[in-house]
Amino acid sequence: MEIRKMNVVVVLVLTSIGVIQANTFHFPDNFSFGVATAAYQIEGGWNKSGKGENIWDRITHKRPEWVKDGKNADIACDSYHLWKIDVQLLKQLGVDFYRFSLSWSRILPTGFSEYINWNGVRYYSDFIDELLANDIRPVVTLYHWDLPQPLQDLGGWPNLLIASYFEDYAKVAFQLFGDRVKTWITINEPNEICDTGYGTGAAAPGIEESGTLDYLCGKTVLIAHAKAYHLYDKYYRNKQKGEIGITIVSRWNEPKTNSTRDKEAAERTMQMQFGWWAHPIFSTKGDYPLVMKERIRNMSQCQNLEESRLPKFTTNEIEYIKGSSDFMGLNHYSTWLITDDSENNCTIVSYENDMGMKNVQDPSWIPSAASWLKDVPWGFRKLLQWIKVEYDNPLIHITENGFADVGELHDTGRIHYHRGYLNELLNAIHLDGCKIKSYALWSLMDNMEWQDGYTLKFGLYYVNFSDPLRTRTPKSSANFYKELIRLRRIPRDTPQLIVI
Ligand code: NOJ
Repeated sequence: MEIRKMNVVVVLVLTSIGVIQANTFHFPDNFSFGVATAAYQIEGGWNKSGKGENIWDRITHKRPEWVKDGKNADIACDSYHLWKIDVQLLKQLGVDFYRFSLSWSRILPTGFSEYINWNGVRYYSDFIDELLANDIRPVVTLYHWDLPQPLQDLGGWPNLLIASYFEDYAKVAFQLFGDRVKTWITINEPNEICDTGYGTGAAAPGIEESGTLDYLCGKTVLIAHAKAYHLYDKYYRNKQKGEIGITIVSRWNEPKTNSTRDKEAAERTMQMQFGWWAHPIFSTKGDYPLVMKERIRNMSQCQNLEESRLPKFTTNEIEYIKGSSDFMGLNHYSTWLITDDSENNCTIVSYENDMGMKNVQDPSWIPSAASWLKDVPWGFRKLLQWIKVEYDNPLIHITENGFADVGELHDTGRIHYHRGYLNELLNAIHLDGCKIKSYALWSLMDNMEWQDGYTLKFGLYYVNFSDPLRTRTPKSSANFYKELIRLRRIPRDTPQLIVI
């Protein structure tokens, strides 16, 4: 869709068409609303003012055909230059906070903390000041998938040394921005970093070593997270008075049938996808989930390996990681149906095979433009209930939830999705007693959706990527969310969009 800035006026009005039974619950007074983005997906300025190369710059430049539309994020939404406009969009929405990430290579171009790029520091510092001047709280993710290339040249996340370099980077960030940033997220979606980056190869650095490098990566990521947590806890918390946690993504995995085998498979999948990260940090026992250790050990034995492919934690490491999060950051998008496949062929070495399940989505579920994302709101509540029981009702920040389309301005699919998911979130708070403190909608604006390039759109604001000015235009969903924040409940009406 092409929208020319000069001859199109967008007017949003409320109508009573399409009324859906609204939840009468309100969001609690101390509940906060925000939107989320990530540095690589929006900033652009990939080599501007001293920024170093990261693994996404490298893969999109070296292998453009690997991205669905052959594009990269060299410019993306150009937020490196348009950040003041972004703050105005946030202001228009009326959000309490903005979740964004720092680009490690913009601050430390080599990846190491010996050399700081002060231009990069100034960029984030000015941006944070502008947010605060507009009463918007910065919620900052340290790592949203963009590893500095020099650290990948050392092997990347499967190399345990990266955990210490991450700690050094975290220290620089706490020192420079911790006076103003009071919510830190160490790492976004470890599952995607490890499984997709080093397992299936569908994310940078595009390595396909499933069942081995993904597990090595996982150990480093958990230790890296814990190092940053303890650093903050020991040296910065008293003075800076903030909170720090990790963001884990989770689907809801529903058994496809009532059979015990499918039920066990669905539970095993929860443990091996979400528990892989959550169990070491949030369970009272720490360490990986038992079922994960058993499954991978048995599969490894069957493959004539002397040791499990899942690297062990020492007792000290287990204690060090356990409890290392002030809150659980949760990203959630969709639901899957699980069938048991535990008697699968052990000659295949892969994380998928280790899980021993098959997953599908019900064809009757409302689709989005992303093949993996269906609109299944009840799965969100089931996930929240499961987490409550499994980890003794932790304090949760929903750090992402969003819907993909191809860029409609009157994005009724997105509104329908958020209406349903926020409805279930209200039920989880009021009926189930889940301790959910905030909600960040993914995403503020359309952006570079990783391997899918610009083919999928998640934004509340449409971005015209063929306009050098990267103009941003509110979609109907922006008005919906704005109204929801204002009312502190789900609006009854669906905003209609009239394009004149
Ligand atoms: C999760 C990731 O954190 C984010 O970067 C991505 O764009 C969304 N999911 C949508 O796929």
